[in-house]
Amino acid sequence: MIITIDGPAGAGKSSIARRVASELGFEFLDTGAMYRAVTWGVMQRGIAWDDVEALVQFADAACLVWQDDRIYLDDQDISEEIRTPQVTSHIRHLADPPKIRERITAQQRRIATGRDIVTEGRDQGTEVFPDAHCKIFLTASPEERARRRQQQLAQNGRAMTVEEILTAQNQRDLEDRMRPVGRLRAASDAIVLQTDGMTPDEVRLEVLRLVRERLEASATNSASGGTSA
Ligand code: DC
Repeated sequence: MIITIDGPAGAGKSSIARRVASELGFEFLDTGAMYRAVTWGVMQRGIAWDDVEALVQFADAACLVWQDDRIYLDDQDISEEIRTPQVTSHIRHLADPPKIRERITAQQRRIATGRDIVTEGRDQGTEVFPDAHCKIFLTASPEERARRRQQQLAQNGRAMTVEEILTAQNQRDLEDRMRPVGRLRAASDAIVLQTDGMTPDEVRLEVLRLVRERLEASATNSASGGTSA
């Protein structure tokens, strides 16, 4: 069974998806971590960002493993290394080319095969798992996402103004919405949840409620031979 949670940067997808997965007894897949991992690998090898053929070759050969909430590239655990601003600022070189997305999409489908999984990203409900049992699009206004990010950074001892965060976030939103394949958008059958003004706990409970409702409807639908609305 597959549940997809897509949405823009800073909408809280990872933490909600992780908690919802744990409450349902599902596994969790962070697909952003996969794009981050190949980006980090390219930086280590010094491949030129504009050498798309070399980037495709690298993505083709890269062995990505997602296990126990950790990401491994060719057997190396790089779960912390992928979270730097340098990696974030270069991801588009790996996330834009359709040929690279094809490879990473294939790896995501391979990882999900035979599992009950909550998978989060930008294109999970639209491109990677169009037949998912339940699709959620989690979003919030740019200002709200920037405020939440500022609080998160402050808790980790890093001070940034909301304006600084907003500028970087707007740039990422633009890149995520403009890529030719796998762009950020809600699937036509996704449930859109606008989370402005909600606490993380309220979001978690609402996502759980929506997922359970959708899964029950889908079970009833299969039991009746798929003829109900
Ligand atoms: O979720 P995140 O911020 O860790 O994702 C980092 C980047 O990876 C995001 O800006 C775009 C890319 N990405 C993608 O193109 N498709 C996905 N399914 C997940 C992430």
